[in-house]
Amino acid sequence: MKVLVTGGAGYIGSHTVVLLIEAGYEVVVFDNFSNASKESIRRVEAIVGKKIVVVEGDIRYREDLAKVFSSHKIDAVIHFAGLKAVGESVEQPLRYYDNNVNGSVVLCEVMSEYNCKSIIFSSSATVYGDPHTTPILEDFPLSATNPYGRSKLMVEEILRDVYLSDNEWKIVLLRYFNPVGAHASGTIGEDPNGLPNNLMPFISQTAVGKREYLSVFGNDYDTVDGTGVRDYIHVIDLAQGHLNALDRIRNFNEPMTINLGTGNGYSVLEMVEAFEKASAKKVPYKIVERRVGDIATCFADPSYAKEVLDWEATRGIDEMCEDTWRWQSQNPNGYII
Ligand code: NAD
Ligand code: WQD
Repeated sequence: MKVLVTGGAGYIGSHTVVLLIEAGYEVVVFDNFSNASKESIRRVEAIVGKKIVVVEGDIRYREDLAKVFSSHKIDAVIHFAGLKAVGESVEQPLRYYDNNVNGSVVLCEVMSEYNCKSIIFSSSATVYGDPHTTPILEDFPLSATNPYGRSKLMVEEILRDVYLSDNEWKIVLLRYFNPVGAHASGTIGEDPNGLPNNLMPFISQTAVGKREYLSVFGNDYDTVDGTGVRDYIHVIDLAQGHLNALDRIRNFNEPMTINLGTGNGYSVLEMVEAFEKASAKKVPYKIVERRVGDIATCFADPSYAKEVLDWEATRGIDEMCEDTWRWQSQNPNGYII
């Protein structure tokens, strides 16, 4: 089976490519390298001991995609390509809608032309907005508070409409909670540009000495210690969820919407403590104002994934922190070598 992985050079994509190749899938990576380094591909090749087929192109340009589909018989697409910075999406909404929504539309059009109608889409727990209760089930109300989140909601709806127009489509919408961690080799991992937006890379850059201290965004939430609680999931567990979905996609008779989370919530301070233990480094922090748009608590009910994908996360918070630390300490400047 040949799988096209859009965004396959990025953080989650690169880890998924490793697992796909190890499981015997043929893989074509498609990426415009807008938020990825070619070094990540070389590192993946070193892990799997094989050359990877990579096409540099943009999902918004049908000629780029047509080139791939005309030269490879693609059976299914795992669609990671997208922009993901929430704050940036507020400043540049049109860029986000063009890239994430328009790009996904063009991708589906070209897939349809080449009669490839199986797609796994990277959605996000952000589509639940501020949930009224936790754990979060897939049928909870949906909302978006920023263009990034809205782009995910839009693509989910577009894909459901595509299915309604043509029931041959096989569609899996995976809603990720908070991906963290890295491959156990420490050679691939998350490599944010500039100041990290997300907690885990900020903690690890502080531990390695690149940042002076972590700003903890508020300690007056209604949580165990007042800091925000999230469902952190190891990127390898997340990647495995895609393989389970791919394995079963032919048997799904309607679009499937599935949470990928662990079901456990950890506070910011619990994450700091776990990271200090894993790295044997201090992570200095200061409590600052709440970040606009943040919610107190978000964690998944992952039971539907267990039921329909026979998938559950197996890696705990210690392994998430240890693997992040191995990547960060071996590559203090990410893929810049
Ligand atoms: P990433 O930025 O590391 O990977 C995305 C990849 O897509 C990058 O390699 C980038 O170069 C590529 N890309 C972007 N626009 C493209 C385009 N127009 N054409 C071709 N390639 C393009 O991000 P990630 O963390 O690996 O996230 C992967 C997907 O999962 C994204 O869609 C993201 O929105 C979604 N997601 C991520 C998180 C998270 O916290 N990391 C959570 C939920 C959902
Ligand atoms: C986690 C917790 C912060 C940074 C975001 C996106 C979401 C999804 C995942 C893609 C919160 C606190 C953080 C810092 C802190 N991405 N924090 N200091 O906010 O759950 O979700 O990433 O789909 O769309 O919104 O993750 O890692 O940014 O924050 O105190 O420097 O850490 O307040 O409680 P979040 P995060």
